[in-house]
Amino acid sequence: MPRRIIIDTDPGQDDAVAILLALASPELEVMAITTVAGNVPQPLVTDNALKIVELAGRGHVPVHRGCERPLLRPLYTAEYVHGPSGIDGADLPDASWPPSPGHGVDVIVEACMASVDDPITLCPIGPLTNVATALVKQPAIVAGIAEIVLMGGGFFEGGNTTPTAEFNIYVDPHAAAIVFDAGVPITMMPLDVTHQALVTPEHIGRFRDLRTPVGDAVAGMLGFYERHDVEKYGIGGAPLHDPCVIAYLIEPDLFSGRRCHVAVETASELTMGMTVVDWWAVGDREPNALVMNEVDADRFLDLVVERLATL
Ligand code: RIB
Ligand code: CA
Repeated sequence: MPRRIIIDTDPGQDDAVAILLALASPELEVMAITTVAGNVPQPLVTDNALKIVELAGRGHVPVHRGCERPLLRPLYTAEYVHGPSGIDGADLPDASWPPSPGHGVDVIVEACMASVDDPITLCPIGPLTNVATALVKQPAIVAGIAEIVLMGGGFFEGGNTTPTAEFNIYVDPHAAAIVFDAGVPITMMPLDVTHQALVTPEHIGRFRDLRTPVGDAVAGMLGFYERHDVEKYGIGGAPLHDPCVIAYLIEPDLFSGRRCHVAVETASELTMGMTVVDWWAVGDREPNALVMNEVDADRFLDLVVERLATL
C-alpha cells in the first residue's frame, strides 16, 4: 500500500521538484497539498502549487490554501532567492483548477483525525505555520500522524537566512517550537544534509535532456534558483532542499543521521529561529527528532531525475 502523505508547501522552485517527485512515485499517495506563506506570499504559493500539480499530469490532487502569515512574527519572504513569482525560471500557464474548498489547516486536522487507524505522514517543506496551527486547534491529531518529515533548521551548517537560522524555521519560529514539542515522531532534513544535495549544471542538463514539459520546467526553475546559492556559498550547485523530504520516504537509506533533542530559539532576536540540536547528547532532554546529516548525493540526484522522467 502506498504511504499516505500531505505535503505542506511554499513553492518555491525546490518545493516544485519535491511535489513532482512525490507525484511521480508510486510508493506515495499524495492525499492533499496545503500551502503556507513563505518563499512568497499567498495567493502566489497556492497558484504555484496548482500549476505544478497540473504540470505533473497525474490527475487532480487537491490543493488547499493555508495560512497567510506566521503565528506571531510578520511574514518574511524570499523573492531574492526564488524571484517575484516564487517559481521564476518556469513559464507555467495558469492552472485549470481553482484551490479546493477548505482551509489547509482544517484539511490537515480532518485528515489526521480520520487516520487514527492508519496514521499519515505530514511533509512540511515550508514554514510550519499550518502544522502548528493544526496541532493547537486539535491536539488529538497526533494520534493520526505516523511521522512528520520536514525540511528545516541547521546546526553545524549554521543558517541561510541569519547566521544561526534556516529560512523555514526563521519565518515562523513559534510554529516550529510547537511542532518540535508536540511529541510526534519527527525526521528533520536540516541544511547540514541539504547542503550536500547540490544540483549542478550537469544535473540541469539531464533535466533539459528529458525533452518533456516537466524536464524543461525543472531545468528552467533550477537554472534560475541556483544562481543565488552558487554566488553566496561559492559552491558548484544549488541545494535541492525540499526534495530530500520526499526522497527519504522513497529510499530512506539514502540518508543517515542521529536521534537528538532539538529546541527552537524564540526569545533572542540575535538567534531567533535557531534549531539548537543536542548532537552530543550533553543535555538532559530526550531526543525528539531524527536529525539527518548525510546523504548519498549522487544516488539522490539520480532518483530525482529518473522519477521526473516518468512524468
Ligand atoms: O531554507 C530552505 C527552505 O526555505 C526550502 O524549503 C525553501 O523552499 C525555502 O522554503
Ligand atoms: Ca520550501
